[in-house]
Amino acid sequence: MGKKADIGLIGLAVMGQNLVLNMNDHGYAVAVYNRTASKTEEFLQDAAKGRDTVIGAHTLEDFVGTLAKPRKIMLMVKAGDVVDSFIDQLVPLLEKGDLIIDGGNSHYPDTTRRTRDLREKGILYIGTGVSGGEEGARRGPSIMPGGNEEAWPLVKDIFQGIAAKVEDGSPCCDWVGQDGAGHYVKMIHNGIEYGDMQMICEAYDVLHNGLGLTHDELHEVFAEWNEGELDSFLIEITRDIMKTLDTDGKPLVTKILDKAGQKGTGKWTGINSLELGVPVTLIVEAVYARCLSALKHERVAASRVISGPEKKIEGDRKAIIEDARKALLASKIVSYAQGYMLMRETAKENGWDLNYGGIALMWRGGCIIRSVFLGKIKDAFDRNPALQNLLVDPYFVSVMADCQGAWRRTVARAVTAGIPVPAMSSALSFFDGYRSERLPANLLQAQRDYFGAHTYERIDRPEGEFFHTNWTGTGGNVSSSTYQV
Ligand code: 6PG
Repeated sequence: MGKKADIGLIGLAVMGQNLVLNMNDHGYAVAVYNRTASKTEEFLQDAAKGRDTVIGAHTLEDFVGTLAKPRKIMLMVKAGDVVDSFIDQLVPLLEKGDLIIDGGNSHYPDTTRRTRDLREKGILYIGTGVSGGEEGARRGPSIMPGGNEEAWPLVKDIFQGIAAKVEDGSPCCDWVGQDGAGHYVKMIHNGIEYGDMQMICEAYDVLHNGLGLTHDELHEVFAEWNEGELDSFLIEITRDIMKTLDTDGKPLVTKILDKAGQKGTGKWTGINSLELGVPVTLIVEAVYARCLSALKHERVAASRVISGPEKKIEGDRKAIIEDARKALLASKIVSYAQGYMLMRETAKENGWDLNYGGIALMWRGGCIIRSVFLGKIKDAFDRNPALQNLLVDPYFVSVMADCQGAWRRTVARAVTAGIPVPAMSSALSFFDGYRSERLPANLLQAQRDYFGAHTYERIDRPEGEFFHTNWTGTGGNVSSSTYQV
């Protein structure tokens, strides 16, 4: 029998195929299996043609048989039941110490459950985020592994070998933490991705529909933005999208139905934020913006009966464009600050020791949110690993000070013109709330105590002491309990 495969991969959809080719380019022999056998054949005859160290198998038994021990099997299949089904089929074929890796977008509690169940059976498990789409998988993705730490040495070289590298050669892949930590960090990545995309769409709306820039002009604007602080993959592709024409010579983007899809990772981030009481307002608004866009028919009908201002922004074009750039940057800083707040809280809940600078480094290259900006976040955590919030880091304090006026003007212009900017405006409200020593929650507490005897604390007494007032003179003096969720 010939050389055994270093790793096996199940699921030959676009990400799976490209990961196989990437691993193989790095010198690893890879066994492949796909539920629909014809897909395996197609892959071997086409994309993997001539690669004798990509080994196809038509049954799971054969597939497992081709793997060197301890066996390493990576699943690149649809998140959910399909992952459980493959695990169930594989376990009887494996031995103690073998490793299963899930590289799909699984929900992190599922990964925690699977890691624990398999540990009891002596099987190692890793749930890893893999970001970067087709191109990333092929040339160097960002890889975020977590799960059973004993498994990490088995795949460290492979994963770090195929991952994207930053300028100094560091791989965009490192061990994230136990149980579902890797998939959790990927979920936050995706939430941030939702936010970044929405903010760019808002800037586009302000500049195209409001200010009247053509797509050619917008191409130039995004190209210029991509040379500075906003230098990122998503700005880069937006620049290129502006230039892409349909067969009739019109910008293709104008022909695309304005109805956003979503696969769930942004929603999970929102649910996680609500569960932990962390105000991740921008990402949640970005999810809702997709939901609102999906109500296309309702919006079309509403647009015929509800009027508003003409969506027109006038003034010094150059200044308005620069304001929009700064509004985008400031909102982006808030979004990442919120994402990091949420990671910190979840890490505390789960006992994970997350390396926040390391996460920024993992996202610095390869993934969808890759940007120069992430280098600044890495620097902030290098300066102060215990940093409470990105917004109080001296570098970000100064950027926010520089962008604030432009940000307010952009939101004001959009609001006045009736252009929805949910991400930028909610980020601004969060920013103003976060920097407020005092918020109107004193009144809120009074209202709660007024109608439900929910009690309040006083500014002239130690925190933790609760008071109730008989506001109407007719209520009783009995207060309700003061539990918090
Ligand atoms: C990535 C992407 C990838 C996928 C999104 C799409 O990091 O490579 O995030 O995982 O493209 O999950 O998500 P939506 O369909 O929800 O936009």
